[in-house]
Amino acid sequence: MTQSLLKVENLRKDFGAQTILQDVSLDVHQGEVVVIVGPSGCGKSTFLRCLNGLEPVTGGRVLLDGKCISDGSVPRSEICQHIGMVFQSYDLFNHLTVLDNIALAPVEVQHRDPEEVRCRSRELLARIGLAGKENAYPRELSGGQKQRIAMVRALILNPEIMLFDEVTASLDPEMVREVLDMMMELARGGMTMLIVTHEMSFARAVADKVYFFDQGGIVESGAPADFFEHPVTARGQKFLDSFIFNERRTKERIS
Ligand SMILES: Nc1ncnc2c1ncn2[C@@H]1O[C@H](COP(=O)(O)OP(=O)(O)OP(=O)(O)O)[C@@H](O)[C@H]1O
Ligand SMILES: [Mg+2]
Repeated sequence: MTQSLLKVENLRKDFGAQTILQDVSLDVHQGEVVVIVGPSGCGKSTFLRCLNGLEPVTGGRVLLDGKCISDGSVPRSEICQHIGMVFQSYDLFNHLTVLDNIALAPVEVQHRDPEEVRCRSRELLARIGLAGKENAYPRELSGGQKQRIAMVRALILNPEIMLFDEVTASLDPEMVREVLDMMMELARGGMTMLIVTHEMSFARAVADKVYFFDQGGIVESGAPADFFEHPVTARGQKFLDSFIFNERRTKERIS
């Protein structure tokens, strides 16, 4: 198999005396979509934050294209250009228009030509059906629209890999679909992606590989059909059962 685009080796993360992640190793290959699922508090967000330099690692290594990026030698502003990240809270600048939100980093950090950046921004906005919104301010957009703008803002930097941390978690149900559709389209277009989500049917549909985290470590991993149909660990089974139980309860409540 080809060299991993992103390789995590024995990653450890402590906050003070508390160990949050321990001995986490995984590989993401070019064009692969890897999904991480696991119970609340097990360390999924912390893991993604360690990958793109938002949190220093306590031990182990993160390699991008074979180069170590977790030893403090690569500035975060550079890591962000290679590893894009989208969060649950979109974190757009409220005082800037959509176009300025998108163009800020490519012009200020990558020193790209402002006209080229504006053209590319308009192209990307048109592709996600938000062509008319370039001069709108974030407060004038729906949650789903803001989240798609946040994705465009990361994508315009031409990252090699995109990290998504529960990007639909704070959206109204009818807006979840438009954001998931955009991610699905990115995946089909060959984008390498590492996705943390609680949307199990989406996870199953989009993933090439699934990792189940619990208590700061990988409990099991595999192809989505295997994990979702036949988890090999009791913890994996219990986690999936809780989703089936909740789904059934919701259906009973509305019927
Ligand atoms: N900056 C921090 N300082 C101290 N502890 C932290 C910090 N950030 C996270 N933690 C702790 O690390 C653990 C893992 O948190 P994390 O946010 O990574 O979980 P998660 O799997 O993303 O959960 P969720 O599904 O609810 O988003 C939690 O116990 C949390 O309290
Ligand atoms: Mg989280």
